[in-house]
Amino acid sequence: MPDRTDEARRLPRVRDEMTPKKVFIKTWGCQMNVYDSGRMADVARTLGYEATDDAAEADLVILNTCHIREKATEKMYSDLGRLHRVQKARRASGKDMRVAVAGCVAQAEGAGIFSRAPYVDLVFGPQSYDRLPAMLARASRKERVLETEFPAVPKFDNLPAAHTGTGVSAFLAIQEGCDRFCSYCVVPYTRGAEYSRPAEAIEAEARRLVEEGAREITLLGQNVNAYRFGLANIIKRIAVIPALARIRYTTSHPCDMGDDLIAAHRDIPKLMPYLHLPAQSGSDRILAAMNRKHTVDAYCRVVEKLRAARPDLALSTDFIVGFPGETDADFEATMNLARNVGFAQAYSFKYSRRPGTPAASLDGQLDEAAKDERLQALQDLLLDQQKRFNRSCVGKTLPVLFENPGRAKNTLFGRTPYLQGVRTSGPARLAGQEAMVKMEAAGSKSLKGTIVKGP
Ligand code: 5AD
Ligand code: SF4
Repeated sequence: MPDRTDEARRLPRVRDEMTPKKVFIKTWGCQMNVYDSGRMADVARTLGYEATDDAAEADLVILNTCHIREKATEKMYSDLGRLHRVQKARRASGKDMRVAVAGCVAQAEGAGIFSRAPYVDLVFGPQSYDRLPAMLARASRKERVLETEFPAVPKFDNLPAAHTGTGVSAFLAIQEGCDRFCSYCVVPYTRGAEYSRPAEAIEAEARRLVEEGAREITLLGQNVNAYRFGLANIIKRIAVIPALARIRYTTSHPCDMGDDLIAAHRDIPKLMPYLHLPAQSGSDRILAAMNRKHTVDAYCRVVEKLRAARPDLALSTDFIVGFPGETDADFEATMNLARNVGFAQAYSFKYSRRPGTPAASLDGQLDEAAKDERLQALQDLLLDQQKRFNRSCVGKTLPVLFENPGRAKNTLFGRTPYLQGVRTSGPARLAGQEAMVKMEAAGSKSLKGTIVKGP
């Protein structure tokens, strides 16, 4: 017969089994962070945590943060303030809530986060989350946990095999970190040195994702085309997976756009005709100050080769305006590059001074008003190009991979090969399938069409 003490000891365990613990993960930043958050959810699941989208019911909150621009970092601190109130309310009603700051802000600011937000329990960088079980065990003993070392063994292949809730379109990290050291960028410091995963591990993960329902895989890396064992090889290797319909990759550096990768755009039908290729600036002087190691001409030559290999390739890019020392003429050169290439989509940012990066100490920092004005002019041009590209698709019939049912009944959301969002009417059961859709209307962000031929 168990004595009362034993009985009492067992009771909480029974209650634990009935109400699983909950984890709330909020993600800022790039696709790599979205991937990392998914993998953190996988690790948490092995510890009995179910995902929730309501922070108020979470036993564990993880903020997966971005350090790329100052704004993203500030947003994280204002969210932390709100979470502190939720944490106090939960504690007042006898429940607990551990707060973790993960990702690139955690890596960059480390213990500084505890000083600014003492109610945070764990701070860990993007290379540490495979150690979440041990970290949470320490946190449950009321230890403060700080893990920002770059480990000798990268995390990827210490992670659980299964992905939680893979969608039709899945991310797969194949490379991480960056050795390029563009002078404005924190990534080489927050994500560390370039690391390429073994091809076998990538293929195995791709096969699992497809078994779990993915029909499109986007291969990820901070500098994905620097993948050490050949990005074109990986694309070929996963293209043979029968149920995989589409392959994409992001983000690329123009200098790492090798001929075999360019040829893959011609030879591998599953590789989608869309490429995100950051240009950053259209001025050689600024590109040199950015340590980009390519000229405007070199960028344009890569684009020419790509378009020769795949004439319908839609290009996307990143631009930074207001880099230190950028003159009106430099900015005009950026506008010209955009006009000459013609982008289907683009992201543009005001230069943000990041502590510890070489550009932060350059002379000639521009004021916000000048940056605002340039950003507005560039974004007007890029939005116009995007609208024009979308309008050029009206009247065409394109294959659309449906990702999920739309909000309204009998509607679907999917994407063209060029990554444009498409809304159509159609039954929810088509999610995960490709159908031919005639495009009938175009907005700046998406298209509307009608299914003319089912899967
Ligand atoms: N300021 C503004 N934009 C930046 N990016 C990277 N670092 C900075 C910075 N300090 C942009 C680049 C990069 C994208 C992910 O973010 O354009 O390609
Ligand atoms: Fe940053 Fe440049 Fe590396 Fe891209 S290539 S992650 S911009 S350092």
